[in-house]
Amino acid sequence: MKTKQTASDKRTVLVLGSNGFIGREFVKELLSNKREDDQFYFLNRTLPAQKIDGVHYFTGDFTHFDWTSLPCSPDIVVHFARNSSKRGRKLGRLLASVKGYFGNKRLLNYLSKQNKQCRVFYLSGSLMYGNHTEVVTEKTPLQPISFAKEYIHAEQPFLTNTKKNTAVTFVRVPWVLGNGSWFDAFYLKKIKIEQVVPIYGDGSNQMAFILNQDIAKCMVHLLDIPFHPIVNLAYDYYITQAEFSQLIANKLQLPLKTIPLQTFERAIKEAFTSSIKLGSELDDCAFILEHLSAKEKIDHFLGQIDISVV
Ligand SMILES: NC(=O)c1ccc[n+]([C@@H]2O[C@H](COP(=O)([O-])OP(=O)(O)OC[C@H]3O[C@@H](n4cnc5c(N)ncnc54)[C@H](OP(=O)(O)O)[C@@H]3O)[C@@H](O)[C@H]2O)c1
Repeated sequence: MKTKQTASDKRTVLVLGSNGFIGREFVKELLSNKREDDQFYFLNRTLPAQKIDGVHYFTGDFTHFDWTSLPCSPDIVVHFARNSSKRGRKLGRLLASVKGYFGNKRLLNYLSKQNKQCRVFYLSGSLMYGNHTEVVTEKTPLQPISFAKEYIHAEQPFLTNTKKNTAVTFVRVPWVLGNGSWFDAFYLKKIKIEQVVPIYGDGSNQMAFILNQDIAKCMVHLLDIPFHPIVNLAYDYYITQAEFSQLIANKLQLPLKTIPLQTFERAIKEAFTSSIKLGSELDDCAFILEHLSAKEKIDHFLGQIDISVV
């Protein structure tokens, strides 16, 4: 007979999307805070280039993965595997999200049938809150914009979860600073090729930020603290997109260039014209988020940018 375990003693941690931009950073932090009895299961569609000793790797699409093939059911699930679409724009994202919806429902059903409590941490984005002039907090109702308009469908099973033995925490983050993701796609590429720093549209939208490493630190900390249904993670520091580009331009000694938004799809236009000042009413992670000022952290990140063309 299975015995009841709690997250505080023995932990079996299942990470979905451990190879991705944010997942990679999270697992580094998780493994450096490893406890003696921890078991780690990492699931992606492909194996990572380098495996880490002591980790069980699984490959497959989480939307139809056979969860009963895991050696032991997890105490903690950390979910970075948003089922996304690289092609097909809105329709592609919608289809990927519907697939994600059924996959997440299956996962919750599997977890609810286990004879133990499980905590699920789902990484989501601040686009779910929509455009606001005021600071948004965990209490702000969702009003998805941009890519979130489609991706919210995948989150529905977690948003409406009532299963008693699965407690779901949504972790919502703003613009994530790190090597990869939107920063590479929208800034670094242009900087390297054209030697200019872009401003998309009029640049008046307010942005909030967090370093990828700080998400990792906060999320590892969240695994151990009492349940919250939603945790927003961002620095208490908001600047306009134009000010952000100016910071980069100053750092790299490059000119600014305005990029008109007309040619971009609706989701990108909305992302670059919406203000989302992500805030929080919680202070569990303040000791991480407030360690060094946000300005110093962003300055340090920008100082490490390599603009040499490979
Ligand atoms: N990046 C940002 O700036 C940002 C900002 C706000 C919120 N977020 C949220 O953070 C989460 C993670 O973002 P990310 O930038 O780290 O994404 P990412 O780099 O695309 O990583 C996603 C990971 O999930 C895995 N994955 C995706 N679909 C899967 C599936 N169906 N089955 C199994 N594995 C699957 C991928 O594995 P394979 O490569 O093997 O397919 C990859 O390792 C997303 O939910 C995103 O909405 C990101």
